[in-house]
Amino acid sequence: MSTRCIIAIDGPAGSGKSTVARALATRLRFAFLDTGAMYRAAAVAVLESGGDVADAVACAGIVKRHTISLDPDAFPPRILLDGRDVGIRIRDPDVSAASSPVSASPEVRAILVQAQRAFAIDHPLLVTEGRDQSSVVFPDAEVKVFLVARLEVRAARRAAELRSKGVPADEAEVLHAIQERDLRDSTRTTSPLREVSGSLRVDSSELSVEQVISLIEAHLPVGAARP
Ligand code: DC
Repeated sequence: MSTRCIIAIDGPAGSGKSTVARALATRLRFAFLDTGAMYRAAAVAVLESGGDVADAVACAGIVKRHTISLDPDAFPPRILLDGRDVGIRIRDPDVSAASSPVSASPEVRAILVQAQRAFAIDHPLLVTEGRDQSSVVFPDAEVKVFLVARLEVRAARRAAELRSKGVPADEAEVLHAIQERDLRDSTRTTSPLREVSGSLRVDSSELSVEQVISLIEAHLPVGAARP
């Protein structure tokens, strides 16, 4: 078995990254890193401090005063803000909306990218997901996947996910919010969402999680899986 195998999965909101990455990590018995959860925790810190999410420097100042970490003993790892589990709070719609402008701050990104690379040093067999994992954080990842899905499909998935948590969700509103977030995440100056050459492009619109995983597994380097 290889001593290091990083599987980087990037894609827009609702493309199925988290579900696929988590299931793949379970199957391979790799660690799992949800980098979106880290940006969401940063947004919680900014919201709780009453900071302006559009002020990149102020956001970084707030984030620096807090500790965003992952408890790797849990699977999936619990996301902690100053040791407090914010796993539920980070999925609230106000945090979803705030996470996009907060993640556009280059200084916030520098802090979280460093934490992500440190996590990979401790967990060299890793499935990681986000927007910049293949392009910026792990450009030397052994496997790079760009996961996409049609906008309507992504909105339907997000709405269903919210409803399953008891949060009322109007599909048209969810679609609009995703569209705005996509635009901001892919047009920002620092580390925009982009497909890198050499990545495996998978459109999950008509595929089950199992089918997506099979496509990725077919691209794993020989000996990547644990025995
Ligand atoms: O994947 P998600 O919806 O949990 O991500 C939340 C926000 O964080 C989203 O607006 C994009 C941003 N993000 C990012 O900029 N870079 C990452 N590696 C992961 C997420």
